Amino acid sequence: TKMTTILGIESSCDDTAAAVVRMTDDVPMILSSVVESQTELHALYGGVVPEIAARAHAEKLDHCIEHALDQASVGLRDLDAIAVTAGPGLIGGVLSGVMCAKGLSAATNLPIIGVNHLAGHALTPRLTDQLAYPYLMLLVSGGHCQFLIVRGALDFTRLGGTIDDAPGEAFDKTARLLGLPQPGGPSVERTAVDGDPSRFSFPRPLLDRDDCDMSFSGLKTALLRARDAAVADKGGLTTDDRANLCAGFQAAVTDVLIEKTRRAIRLYLAECPAIPAIAVAGGVAANQTIRVGLQNLADQMQTSFLAPPLALCTDNAAMIAYAGIELFRAGQTDDLTLSVRPRWPL
Ligand code: KG4
Ligand code: ZN
Repeated sequence: TKMTTILGIESSCDDTAAAVVRMTDDVPMILSSVVESQTELHALYGGVVPEIAARAHAEKLDHCIEHALDQASVGLRDLDAIAVTAGPGLIGGVLSGVMCAKGLSAATNLPIIGVNHLAGHALTPRLTDQLAYPYLMLLVSGGHCQFLIVRGALDFTRLGGTIDDAPGEAFDKTARLLGLPQPGGPSVERTAVDGDPSRFSFPRPLLDRDDCDMSFSGLKTALLRARDAAVADKGGLTTDDRANLCAGFQAAVTDVLIEKTRRAIRLYLAECPAIPAIAVAGGVAANQTIRVGLQNLADQMQTSFLAPPLALCTDNAAMIAYAGIELFRAGQTDDLTLSVRPRWPL
């Protein structure tokens, strides 16, 4: 049997994370996955503050890594390599993680593997379901929204994506405009449960275009206008209207994502012979309405739909360790000269 054990480190946004993943022959297993969120640190500011994030990562990383190794009952000498997110993301945080990985690498002589954060998300269905290449990935998070043909750990084709905001960002702004807590996705989803999605009308941008590009910045303008009209009408924002606004907004995002996925499948078929399995990743893929919509589309197309468990949709280090395993087995290791890339398209 062939066994590869890798420590993963993730610090590109506001989660500090470490994980150990082991692949025995072709079967991956998460031995541990530790995530320390910084949500409360940034709550005061209504968004992630890069300086605060970088400092917090630097403070939390050691503990996170120790915890992950402990939980996995793995020592540094049981590892084959250290995988670390080298971008894209907030430069200070990425640097904290890469410096930490370099320190460990210098002390142990273990190879270091720089991982693209987006590749980590995009390969997650292989970690959770051993999904075979190629497949169609909808990567949908707070900072990203794109359709990818995933052919290999280093072989991605971007079919299209957002031309402005990412949906997670739009969820977060919606929450802010309606006085709901951050992160906005979960609180908007919870509030939408009691709402009527047709009470307010929201646009479905770019559906007249045959490609799979998307736009979400117009939705927040529509939301602001609808909110102000409702407030002027009733002298304040009622609980019902808040729920209706959340439901209407969520329905618009869902419709756009589903319709554009249909078009992404068409573009995919121009390059690959068979209808692909549809997989999602990224924080917004935690949304149940979006998941159900994509599942229905997959049923219609007679293909499969794969959504990782929620904890592996949002930022984590198990996906970085797993991507590291695929790169390690392909002979793609780095050394102490590894540099960070704040921008790093797949
Ligand atoms: O992937 P992620 O943890 O971080 C990056 O952006 O890389 O995604 C975080 C984003 C946030 O914008 C958050 O509001 C959104 O994912 N999100 C959701 C849900 N849970 C998290 N959006 C919609 N519905 C949810 N249930
Ligand atoms: Zn992410």
